Amino acid sequence: MAHLEHDPNKRPDRLRLDDLSHVAPMHASVNPSGHMTIADVDLVELASELGTALYVMDEAALRHQLRAYQDAFDQGWADYAVAYAAKAFICKAMCRLVDEEGGWLDVSSGGELAIALAADFPTERIIMHGNNKTERELVEAVTVGVGRIVVDCFEELQRLQQICEGQGLIQKIQLRIKPGVVPDTHSHIVTGNEDSKFGFGIADGWAMQAVALALAANNLELCGLHAHIGSQIFNYAAYDDTVNALFALIQKSQAELGYTPSELNLGGGVGAAYLHEQEPPSIEGFVQLILEVIAQKCDDFNVEKTAMRLFIEPGRSIVANAGVTLYTVGAVKDLPGVRTYVAVDGGMSDNIRTALYDARYECLIANRANDARDAIVTVAGKHCESGDVLVIDGSIQEPQVGDILVVLTTGAYNQSMASNYNKQPRPAVVWLADGQAREVVRRETYEDLLACEVG
Ligand code: LLP
Repeated sequence: MAHLEHDPNKRPDRLRLDDLSHVAPMHASVNPSGHMTIADVDLVELASELGTALYVMDEAALRHQLRAYQDAFDQGWADYAVAYAAKAFICKAMCRLVDEEGGWLDVSSGGELAIALAADFPTERIIMHGNNKTERELVEAVTVGVGRIVVDCFEELQRLQQICEGQGLIQKIQLRIKPGVVPDTHSHIVTGNEDSKFGFGIADGWAMQAVALALAANNLELCGLHAHIGSQIFNYAAYDDTVNALFALIQKSQAELGYTPSELNLGGGVGAAYLHEQEPPSIEGFVQLILEVIAQKCDDFNVEKTAMRLFIEPGRSIVANAGVTLYTVGAVKDLPGVRTYVAVDGGMSDNIRTALYDARYECLIANRANDARDAIVTVAGKHCESGDVLVIDGSIQEPQVGDILVVLTTGAYNQSMASNYNKQPRPAVVWLADGQAREVVRRETYEDLLACEVG
């Protein structure tokens, strides 16, 4: 993995992080006290200062991942946009970071758009998504001048045309296409198959119909096609199939409508390593692969490569490994012949992914990071149901009450999917860089829990 700065000879103190170095944040290490650090910040001290549960992120790693996409495109394509998928993790600081790095932002609701606007994110670099955008969301998006709206259904095409006509505006759009491809990932996060609620199918002729209608809509400028096939994908062959399917559509549209799109958006989906045995192919490898296939197809169908703008919408691969969650161990229940439960002060309210997708995580004890992880435990949360587990049968140092337990790879779809179940206040988010900690989202309070109550 190109993004790893892992040199055990140079960093002999990284002993027990060695087998986790491509799962842990890029600037994770262990200090002489045996405490895990990120960007030279001691996580045990951080936990005692800010409390647990706590989301912690390696800021430089976020920038590094975004740049890895941009550098890879720079090597092989003239016109492109890397749009960070905000649903993976969004707050104002994240929007500013993406802006500073020159990226675009993919938002999938009026709420995500509101956060982007609060961060003064340039609206012309925002892509608006959603499979059932409300009238209000569409009006907001058009009014603030988002760069692209990805249209998902016929009703929306009509609604958006009416709104733009009413406002006397022309809105740039892409059409969300279902390429009929099934990547190898959890069924909940497959999105480009024929039995999907998203987009216009190719096989059933809807996609061609949508292209024709979009071209006929006076206030919509059809820029191109979009396909997002799913998430946490390791086998990139599915992207080959997607590009093939999109170009088959392009060929048809050229022949029947004389229309060649000038933009192709391949969505997100690049997988992250959650377990030490997982080695997802690199971002560079992914970009090279899609560029090769697209270049070939452009040649085959006489599409000028320099006139084709490529979009990509990575979420997980930017933020997942940069984030960890810190908890305090409150109880250890060793059930003879059954399992050992380690109860922590968070759970399914800050990480629903284990319950929802059978997600698996690596964990360790931050205050004894150099000790061997030779205990096998199940990390349970504090919520009122048995499905409230974070790590099932994970390796960890022998746990003790008061330990700071770290769950790795929690940067993507953890805070963004967090809830107040059992009226648990959501944790703060802290960014670490150059030995400094910066709170970017504060911890919720009981007052926050009551803030919407009017009765
Ligand atoms: N673009 C579109 C249109 C999407 O729907 C998504 C994710 C992305 C980009 C970013 O995909 P990524 O690069 O992050 O794979 N909650 C699930 C993941 C749902 C993904 C939804 N769409 C999870 O926790 O695994």
